[in-house]
Amino acid sequence: MAEIYKEYDCFAYFYNKYWTINAPLYLEKALDILLLEKLEENAHILDVCCGTGNVAGLLHERGYNITGLDGSSLMLDYAKENAKAVEFIQADARDFNLGRKFQAITCLFDSINHLLNQDDVLLVFKNIYEHLEEHGIFVFDANSLSSSQDVDLSDFSAVESNEVFISQGSYNSIEKLITYSLTAFINEDSKWVRYDNKIYERYYEEELLISLLKKAGFRNTAYTYGADIGIEPFEDRVFFTAWR
Ligand SMILES: C[S@@+](CC[C@H](N)C(=O)[O-])C[C@H]1O[C@@H](n2cnc3c(N)ncnc32)[C@H](O)[C@@H]1O
Repeated sequence: MAEIYKEYDCFAYFYNKYWTINAPLYLEKALDILLLEKLEENAHILDVCCGTGNVAGLLHERGYNITGLDGSSLMLDYAKENAKAVEFIQADARDFNLGRKFQAITCLFDSINHLLNQDDVLLVFKNIYEHLEEHGIFVFDANSLSSSQDVDLSDFSAVESNEVFISQGSYNSIEKLITYSLTAFINEDSKWVRYDNKIYERYYEEELLISLLKKAGFRNTAYTYGADIGIEPFEDRVFFTAWR
């Protein structure tokens, strides 16, 4: 299996510094509405594709028992810094067995779209299903068609004295593929060194994701848009809830 998350090693530093700034707060707000009010105070939550651990850290501070899982060791290095008391595990979301079950599982900030084919999405859904207790809840968010098409609206650059970071997104409607082209210039020993990297995301229709959830065994499934639950600026992001 291609280690797609290895691409994240290359850009973990920039992701941690620039990319996730406000997202964890909006995601926490969505979880408040869709998940947390249904859980016991000290419920055990697994955050799959936890990245740099910011959401895990916020939930830990609120008393939840959190485990974060991600494939990228460098993303996890930042996660361990950002959320020191949280347990983090390096594993591939398509192929993991922790030997325990959780009351809830999350997979946030369109991590599902980073799985580039339906077979991989189904593998992840199946693993998540197997790691949920009976009546456990899985919550994740994904890009909608409009958030995929409008990806260039979040083009971003940061210029500092010793580093420049540029992120540009584009959407290919035939392949349903978002490409983030990331370019960084870093001043190393008074010489500017250029780094280039690409991160890809596939858009999946809402009904397709629902059918994959059902195929993985989930009973009740539902989705709503950020706009419906008042999550600005994630209005056109889709939030899914699935019960085991
Ligand atoms: C957009 S980031 C989201 C991180 C985090 N959920 C957040 O809210 O910031 C996607 C994450 O998914 C991870 N990832 C992608 N494919 C993976 C896989 N097959 N197994 C485990 N992690 C994976 C990447 O390493 C990256 O940290």
